[in-house]
Amino acid sequence: MKILVLNGPNINMLGIREPELYGTETYATMVEKIRTYCEGKKIECDFFQSNHEGALVDKIQEAYGVFDAIVMNPAAYTHTSVALLDALKAVSIPCVEVHISDVPSREAFRQVSYVRAACFKTITGLGTDGYLRAVDAIEELLGKKK
Ligand code: DQA
Repeated sequence: MKILVLNGPNINMLGIREPELYGTETYATMVEKIRTYCEGKKIECDFFQSNHEGALVDKIQEAYGVFDAIVMNPAAYTHTSVALLDALKAVSIPCVEVHISDVPSREAFRQVSYVRAACFKTITGLGTDGYLRAVDAIEELLGKKK
């Protein structure tokens, strides 16, 4: 099984940005944590982070026929991007939406998620462990055989 872990704008600033919301772990540390977790499950994973919407759309399109599932934290694009929703729908790759912070308890403008309609699960408020729970959800959905 091959999983693509996609992260949107400012996730590269983890550890620096608003630690009271996003914790003190850096993006690099988080990537290693997810990689180690996937290795333990014999799951291949690849990572991509961009601050640019079009680059994320390109990556989703390129995932077609290559990846079995996507774990995605679209960050601020969650609340604005029809393009990311359409890209996920276009490739029909099972996707889990992850948010590090507890989005439901935050501002009203964060309560809309465009990508959610193309995701089979949403995980929020578990910190970076949310990505690991997303891997579990994918394993459960697709089975361990792939
Ligand atoms: C976020 C929540 C978004 O509202 C915000 O714009 C982010 C990060 C999260 O992981 O909690 O950049 O997706």
